[in-house]
Amino acid sequence: LRTDLLGSIEAAAGLDAVEAVRVQALGKQGVVTGLLKTLGGMSPEARQVEGPRIHALREAVTEALAARKAGLEKAALDARLASETIDMTLPVDGVPAGSVHPVSQVMDELAEIFADLGFAVATGPEIEDDWHNFTALNIPETHPARAMHDTFYFPREEDGSQKYLLRTHTSPVQIRTMVQDKPPIRIIAPGRVYRSDSDATHTPMFHQIEGLVIDKGITLGHLKWTLETFLKAFFERDDIVLRLRPSYFPFTEPSAEVDVGFTWQNGKRVIGGDPRKSDNGGWMEVLGSGMVHRKVIESCGLDPNEWQGFAFGTGVDRLAMLKYGMDDLRAFFDGDLRWLRHYGFSA
Ligand code: PHE
Repeated sequence: LRTDLLGSIEAAAGLDAVEAVRVQALGKQGVVTGLLKTLGGMSPEARQVEGPRIHALREAVTEALAARKAGLEKAALDARLASETIDMTLPVDGVPAGSVHPVSQVMDELAEIFADLGFAVATGPEIEDDWHNFTALNIPETHPARAMHDTFYFPREEDGSQKYLLRTHTSPVQIRTMVQDKPPIRIIAPGRVYRSDSDATHTPMFHQIEGLVIDKGITLGHLKWTLETFLKAFFERDDIVLRLRPSYFPFTEPSAEVDVGFTWQNGKRVIGGDPRKSDNGGWMEVLGSGMVHRKVIESCGLDPNEWQGFAFGTGVDRLAMLKYGMDDLRAFFDGDLRWLRHYGFSA
């Protein structure tokens, strides 16, 4: 019987067959179970001889069943592993590669251009306090420029003061840099800024880049040369013509708005060319700039008789639009892949 049972367990071709043998041997009506039942009717002498033999048989059958079951399960797993392999080195198709967003791309280009001119990159918080965003920039509480900035304010403090806001420009980074670092200073500060404004050319969040130079004997000439060099490098053209138009910013004196000449080409404005020499173009405003106001230098704890400098600020999104011929600012922040693809920015 033992040989028979162990033989059919060994021969069981699948888990179902193993189960059938188990029922046949150890089930309620099974042969081994039947043998165990006979022990009760035996004489003590006979039981002493037969008991251990029958129990050993049951043990051997149980073990053989478990071993066969494990063997079959392992074989099934091996077969699955052999047939279901995945080749991790195969290229995946149908998943387009990402690409750098035009705004990030332009910020990278600007950082590179200014790095060549010896400018480091500085940053500041987007949640700014009133002092850095306005007061230290010579925009006191009552100044009309505050109203012009369409500021997003955080709730008032208990004492009624208005402490925090979303920075409306990157100029507070000028302040943070002058307070923290010793001159000479040459930095650019790219980043997000916020104004409560929205149409085809305004979004509540947009990007600016600030420039600041503080040293001894800095003049408007340095400012103009720097801007000209930067714009030529950025638009990749030598025929960039600049016009500095007198303007007003509370934190610069004198202040100048900077226009660049453009030429009409196929109904589009293309930066470059001298509008004074042809009637096929005009001026486009690209930057705000000026010599840093003495009061601003003073509020940062520096002596304006020793240190002077210039500052400028411009919209990164606007520069991207001009360079890549895009016309709706809002599209920058829609995340529409078709738009990115159209301008050659996505796979
Ligand atoms: N902060 C100004 C703006 O947002 C730009 C500017 C920066 C002007 C630095 C002059 C100097 O409009």
